[in-house]
Amino acid sequence: MISSRIRELLSQMSPQEKLGQLQIVYRPRHEEAAALVRAGIGAVFWPQSAAASNALQREAVEGTRLGIPILIGLDVIHGQRTIAPVPLAQAASFDPDMVERLARTAAVEARSGGVTWTFSPMIDVSRDPRWGRVVEGFGEDVHVTSVMGNAMVRGYQEQDLSRPGTLAATAKHFVAYGQPDGGRDYNSVDMSAQRLRNVYLEPFRAAVRADVAAVMASFNTVAGVPMHANGALLTGILKDEWGFDGLVVGDADGVANLVPHRVAETIDDAVRMAYAAGVDVEMGGAPSAIAWDASTLDPARLDDAVARVLGVKEALGLFERPYVDEAAERVEPTDATRAQARRAAARSAVLLQNDGTLPLSTGSRVLLTGPYATSTDHLGAWAQSFSARSSSIADALRARDDIEVIVEEGVSFFGDRHDDVDAVATAALEADVVVVCVGEPSSLSGEAASRSDLRLPGRQADLIRAIAGTGIPFVVVLANGRPLVVADWIDEAPAVLEVWHGGTEAPAAIVDLLLGDQEPAGRLPMSFPRSAGQVPVHYAHENTGRPAAVRGTMTLESVDVALEGPANVQEKYTSKYLDLDLGPQFSFGHGSGYATFSYGQPRVSSAEIAADEAVTLEVEVTNTSARAGDEVVQVYVEDVVASIAPPVRRLVAFRRRTFAAGETATLSFEIGPEQLGFWLADGRFAVEPGAFVMHVGGALERTVPVRLQVR
Ligand code: GLC
Repeated sequence: MISSRIRELLSQMSPQEKLGQLQIVYRPRHEEAAALVRAGIGAVFWPQSAAASNALQREAVEGTRLGIPILIGLDVIHGQRTIAPVPLAQAASFDPDMVERLARTAAVEARSGGVTWTFSPMIDVSRDPRWGRVVEGFGEDVHVTSVMGNAMVRGYQEQDLSRPGTLAATAKHFVAYGQPDGGRDYNSVDMSAQRLRNVYLEPFRAAVRADVAAVMASFNTVAGVPMHANGALLTGILKDEWGFDGLVVGDADGVANLVPHRVAETIDDAVRMAYAAGVDVEMGGAPSAIAWDASTLDPARLDDAVARVLGVKEALGLFERPYVDEAAERVEPTDATRAQARRAAARSAVLLQNDGTLPLSTGSRVLLTGPYATSTDHLGAWAQSFSARSSSIADALRARDDIEVIVEEGVSFFGDRHDDVDAVATAALEADVVVVCVGEPSSLSGEAASRSDLRLPGRQADLIRAIAGTGIPFVVVLANGRPLVVADWIDEAPAVLEVWHGGTEAPAAIVDLLLGDQEPAGRLPMSFPRSAGQVPVHYAHENTGRPAAVRGTMTLESVDVALEGPANVQEKYTSKYLDLDLGPQFSFGHGSGYATFSYGQPRVSSAEIAADEAVTLEVEVTNTSARAGDEVVQVYVEDVVASIAPPVRRLVAFRRRTFAAGETATLSFEIGPEQLGFWLADGRFAVEPGAFVMHVGGALERTVPVRLQVR
């Protein structure tokens, strides 16, 4: 329903003025941007200050015929001045309230500088860590991605976009961008309609229900149709079926890319196709929209697109309050935002394994080694020039007066002539414990950063193995923007702490975790493969007609031996690799803390329900350790038999909760059609009768089952 103001404006606007509202220009120099705004462009990228934003806004409000305010957009992905952990790390916290609060901080900082529109959250499910952009999303799981995406939308938009300190959020990249062939960015996507609906569309459906202001189209094709020209999905499902009334923005040059996609001969053809398909705002480097001949676009489609854009501006209150208070611009983190970022970095960490070496004892003599000992590269792939930098782990450890630190990097990220693993092995002999800080620099993840080899770059694995050879206790701190292949060293590491790219305050948080001031209790939002050859590998897979059961070490020789005896012949003809163990190195949901927990038998309020009914599932959880700690209680549904091959497990609920030492608490979850049903290829959502099993626990490999019958 459009307002009378928008209706009035539409009646007054010329076709050219309408076209001007349907474009955002990125990276213009200030003078160029001012000229574009005077010429009618309705949105620009942030000019990097409140004063410059107000200057551009004055060009629009006071310098154009109708005085329509502009939108000012920016990729506020995980913070503006105070950089929070990358979204993949935030997902690992399994703490949506934290994600919402971080987005709130980012919105307040960005809006104070004149930003009104963020191109975030990225809610592309991905099961392929070769794809560099997994760092920007929330991992492999539909439910986690939906919950975290909505938390970010709430954090940016609050309940009312017109309130101060809000940003119009953008759910991106619509759709299935995270499953490109070969894990190569921008590559083709082709999949069944039912998988598209049940996995890749679902988080966007959730974001639309959360009233996200915008959706961004993705660079990829789906079944041969580029998303920027995909009317069936952009209009058919997003706008018509789901009733999305915000705006669809193209990705940078995504409309122009229709020509190399070979579905458009010229840019004009591409523009016409994109608007007809449902793109409302074209994002480009050169002002092309206002140069177009508006008569080539369907007038009703033109007005619909303009109404959507003006609707977002109206919701933001820009017609009443177009300017920002320059004196109140937030250009630096505050103590509070730093403390929030530090706590978030700690809550996003995942303890992959620990033989008790962690937490370290104070008073120890610590050798700190590896490229991440001194690197300050903790901000992740979307850090921008105006974001607050981070320090290093060495700086943070040296700031402690209860630890003695020696620093010897040993190797660089990519290996060079200065690498000296032996010197570090010698230095280790003088230490009580070694902390090996390794990982991927942020340049190896993010857009256009796909990798075919997921191991640690350079000689970092050699360094770990050399330290293992000394017999001195050691821990590995892993800082990376994607799941890595760690098979070549993991079995030699007493303790491994996954800290991702944790943001401005990551080093301080890592030291808090190493010394036990904070407890790592995150869980993996994405499986770690044993090898890149195993990808895609994820937990919500189909069972196949011939599931393999063997979990021991599989080698090419052992397969010949395994052929003896009928049971092993049975094993031979099953879905597996001849040369790789079954399953991922670490599964989705994997992780533990310093505390330990036990689970009672889960109970359901009714053992049998109708397809449209729900049950309450309850479970008693006890902290069996002598220290307080967080547990991430996870509820997975197993649909025993379905009309299409169901995933062997599907996460439908989770909750992170702090338990006092020895505390027992009962947690309850609502299990109904939303959790039990799934989408059929024809677009119907169905809860099918039959047996279900709920698996409840702190990790996939540690669950307790309870059955439920749907009649
Ligand atoms: C990039 C990204 C998109 C981003 C846009 C604007 O190409 O694909 O996520 O929002 O351009 O920077």
